[in-house]
Amino acid sequence: MVAGLFSVVLVGLIVLFLGLIFTHFLPLLLKLGHAPRGSFGWPLVGETLSFLKPHASNTLGSFLQDHCSRYGKVFKSHLFCYPTVVSCDQELNNFILQNEEKLFQCSYPKPIHGILGKSSMLVVVGDTHKRLRNLALTLVTTTKSKPDYINDIEKTAIQIMDSWKDKTQVIFCEEARKFTFNVIVKQVLGLDPDEPQTAKILEDFLTFMKGLISFPVYIPGTPYARAVQARSRISSTVKAIVEERRSGGNCKKKGDFLEILLSVNSLSEDEKVSFVLDSLLGGYETTSLLMAMTVQFLGQSPPALEQLKSEHQNIRSIKLKNEYLNWEDYKKMEFTQHVINEALRCGNIVKFVHRKALKDVRFKDYLIPSGWKVLPVFSAVHLDPSLHGSALQFHPWRWENQSQTTCKKFAPFGGGPRFCPGSELAKVETAFFLHHLVLSFRWSTQGVDPPIAYPYVEFPNGMPLKVEPILSQSLF
Ligand code: HEM
Repeated sequence: MVAGLFSVVLVGLIVLFLGLIFTHFLPLLLKLGHAPRGSFGWPLVGETLSFLKPHASNTLGSFLQDHCSRYGKVFKSHLFCYPTVVSCDQELNNFILQNEEKLFQCSYPKPIHGILGKSSMLVVVGDTHKRLRNLALTLVTTTKSKPDYINDIEKTAIQIMDSWKDKTQVIFCEEARKFTFNVIVKQVLGLDPDEPQTAKILEDFLTFMKGLISFPVYIPGTPYARAVQARSRISSTVKAIVEERRSGGNCKKKGDFLEILLSVNSLSEDEKVSFVLDSLLGGYETTSLLMAMTVQFLGQSPPALEQLKSEHQNIRSIKLKNEYLNWEDYKKMEFTQHVINEALRCGNIVKFVHRKALKDVRFKDYLIPSGWKVLPVFSAVHLDPSLHGSALQFHPWRWENQSQTTCKKFAPFGGGPRFCPGSELAKVETAFFLHHLVLSFRWSTQGVDPPIAYPYVEFPNGMPLKVEPILSQSLF
């Protein structure tokens, strides 16, 4: 009797085992057989540590270099605790970005959700993302059409450079951060740099930024835990500003994002606060890095600096003293745009973005299995010598006669339905700052301080800049 029962159980187990093999493991093995070549590395951590190994941001780094030469531009790996397909291929990157929500979906690691909050635009997907994004685009278009928009940017640049008059050296990254923070706080919350709320938000924001790039464990006292707390303090400050505005205080501050946000009924209070945080976060560090990279690359390329100077001298020569720049002037800054594009290409502020495959996806000879992480790596495309001649060289002239918007080999602001809504603001800020920097100062970078990808990008020494005012050339 017992023996009979035992055989039934045994047969049952064998059937179950075979069933599992046929329904799960065999398809998985077949899929793995069609997945790109590559290696998974160590259990659990996989190859994450080698992938994150710091390197100069205008180079590929040893991980991508080794893997691309061993397996080709698309390879499998195990990163951030998931089986992953890494793409250094221009066409696949573009395919991934254009098929957002159809075949792929934005998928940042969970600890990032903890810091950014569940309503952040980088975290939400589907209809919620569409709703927040439509609002972001409306806000960008509406604020851009206000006359104060570009004047405020220029006034902030002048203010920062006025504080350099008695100095012989500045730490450029710090100055650039002050500038981009003051611009975005003014645009989003209508706050001036000298208001107490601005200083409070900046202090919390710096803590928040440190946590964003720290090891994600929530133990009181760690940078991660401090960042989560700093986020909640910024939320409270923003909520207080919202309340103050609602109750009719501070009537003079009009024309900022907040004014429009307050009139929108389709967003919860939480979403509104998250929206403000996204704008501050997106508009602060990335743009200051772009400015620092532009200055660093120009410092090493005297012919490019000369041509840039002459473009800005021409624009200034037909303006009155004390006259601010306008959109027409901005349109004339053609070579400046080439310099900015080239700094974005060489500097690679955002090296890659996080996606996951929503279903099995076939692309060319590869199969990307459903549920796998997918990382389109922009820096690999930007530095690919088969797409950009002398790819490692800063050469702004390569952008002459190139259409930027349709240029698939250049994606510093991402692409598809998640294309960066702040791309133009970042470029206007950089162009206007450069205008005053090249016309009002003689300056030089000191030594070699290349930006390092950790993979978040940073100048280890903050980029010291020797400065000397050109006294004969007071514009204001
Ligand atoms: C040089 C400066 C900048 C760079 C290189 C940059 C880069 C990027 C990239 C690559 C993405 C796509 C992320 C993804 O697909 O997962 C993105 C998205 C985003 N950026 Fe920027 N950005 C810059 C400036 C700004 C500014 C100035 C703002 C705000 C004022 C901003 C706000 C955002 C937001 C809200 C998103 C999320 C968009 C979405 O998910 O639909 N960025 N940015």
